[in-house]
Amino acid sequence: MNLALHSPLDMHLHLRQDEMLDAVAPLSAKYFAGGVVMPNLIPPINSIERLLWYKAEVKRATAPYVFEPYMTLFFRSYTFSELEEARRNIIGVKLYPSGITTNSEGGVQDLSLIEPTLSMMQELDIPLLVHGETNGFVMDRESEFCRIYQLLASKFPGLRIVMEHITTRDAVVLLDRYENLFATITPHHLLTTLDDVVGGLMNPHLFCKPIAKRPEDRDALLAAALSAHSKVMMGTDSAPHPTNMKESHGCAAGVFSAPIALPLLAELFERHNALDRLQAFVSSNACRIYRITPREKEVRLIKQSMIIPASYLSIVPMWAGYEISWSFEA
Ligand code: DOR
Ligand code: ZN
Repeated sequence: MNLALHSPLDMHLHLRQDEMLDAVAPLSAKYFAGGVVMPNLIPPINSIERLLWYKAEVKRATAPYVFEPYMTLFFRSYTFSELEEARRNIIGVKLYPSGITTNSEGGVQDLSLIEPTLSMMQELDIPLLVHGETNGFVMDRESEFCRIYQLLASKFPGLRIVMEHITTRDAVVLLDRYENLFATITPHHLLTTLDDVVGGLMNPHLFCKPIAKRPEDRDALLAAALSAHSKVMMGTDSAPHPTNMKESHGCAAGVFSAPIALPLLAELFERHNALDRLQAFVSSNACRIYRITPREKEVRLIKQSMIIPASYLSIVPMWAGYEISWSFEA
């Protein structure tokens, strides 16, 4: 059995910089037609100057593949002219609550101060991408943040808000309640629960923020993805870290999945008789929601088993060593 995907897009992706960028960017560029590139570098991408520098870096590292980097700015209070100037080079602005995840120390400390920037973004039609977690108990952080999603969605009805990497049924429910709320969902949150992370021997390569939740949450995400709910998009949140940062005391949060995301999804969607929905989940929904038209790029998958490599240039992917039933056509 074969499957041709047209211009698959990764709507949430960490590419890093320097050697890590050079190592991982070609792996995304080979299998995707484009990706939404996260701005949580040190220092963050929070000026036009850094944005243009980073975009050029990503283009350099992904050449000669057909791969469109959809860039994001790290949220801070911006002026109207900064946003106006950035607009043609970004797909959105990414908001991190301060300290909530990797390299987010420069994020928002006081959510009551973000509104002037949000109203300018609404006026300029620049989407807001959000890492939606409070600093509460780790399993409740996203559900607690849903209150903030609701406030923002009602206060800025003209602002497209993307709830990034959702992990809970509570977040799925909001999609049908607010016209301007959308979401990305990762392959790993469709495939795992907290049990896979810490229920047996601890698996640091599945440790990420937000942490995988309960089976009923995973099932709600699955229902949305497998039905290709019109407001959800696939975003891997592929977040590489050096192995010594993952397999250590103080394991860094992040799952590296970009090079295997599409075969993982083909296996999952086939198992649920939903292969005909995969195109919408990995591309068409994103094109409609973000109003983008990526260049045509056909990515062909085949039902042929493969063993997930132990590492890609020393970076360990999720499920390293597992056998899955789909792979890329040679
Ligand atoms: O697990 C995560 N890793 N979650 C994030 O939000 C950031 C990411 C990273 O940059 O490593
Ligand atoms: Zn992320």
